[in-house]
Amino acid sequence: MSNIPVLTIDGPSGSGKGTIAQLIAKKLGWHYLDSGAIYRVLAQAAIKHHVELDNEPELAQMAAQLDLVFSLDNDQLVVKLEGDDVSHQIRSEQAGNAASKVAALALVRSALLERQRQFRQAPGLVTDGRDMGTVVFPDANTKVFLTASAKVRAERRYKQLKQKGIESNLSDLISEISERDKRDSQRSVAPLIPAEDALVLDSSEMGIETVYRHIITLCGDV
Ligand code: C5P
Repeated sequence: MSNIPVLTIDGPSGSGKGTIAQLIAKKLGWHYLDSGAIYRVLAQAAIKHHVELDNEPELAQMAAQLDLVFSLDNDQLVVKLEGDDVSHQIRSEQAGNAASKVAALALVRSALLERQRQFRQAPGLVTDGRDMGTVVFPDANTKVFLTASAKVRAERRYKQLKQKGIESNLSDLISEISERDKRDSQRSVAPLIPAEDALVLDSSEMGIETVYRHIITLCGDV
């Protein structure tokens, strides 16, 4: 247990939790943990080292020794795997799907638990993921579960990818997002579900500004 405050923002992919979490971390001057990036990097490492995405013992060992460094460059998250900048590479839909496969493995998740908890540093931590409020930081001061319909999330992802110069197809994105939701929600270990004490926000009809204001108001009580 720690006295350092934590705000957890969990939810499905494309719900906007990453953008909101980063805005709030900046506003509060708190640290930020993008837990999905850890699973994405692990999947990249597996592909790089020719390890099958269902080889649980080997992946758990890789997870425990993962040479991963996060840093910030002009407010942009820079992610390095074994010294190589993989920030761009890990954001593709393929990387997200590969991440969700390795993330379904219990030994992988337990190997990464402590690493995630180490991000809890003063003055506070904002974290986004799937199990931040349920498993990794169950004692977090404020928990939010941010969601939106699969269609809205796919449209947002489409725009986001386009801005990054990555071409995609909207109907493929809708089916990929739905498939990933299903895998994340139905897995037996740390499934994607709101913590009992989380505020559930559906952002389908809300702009980023509105979501941001809702959450920052909640943090007033931290
Ligand atoms: O959030 P992001 O889309 O980057 O996460 C990629 C994948 O990593 C998710 O689909 C999910 O399977 C997995 N993940 C997880 N637990 C977390 C964060 C991400 O299982 N806390």
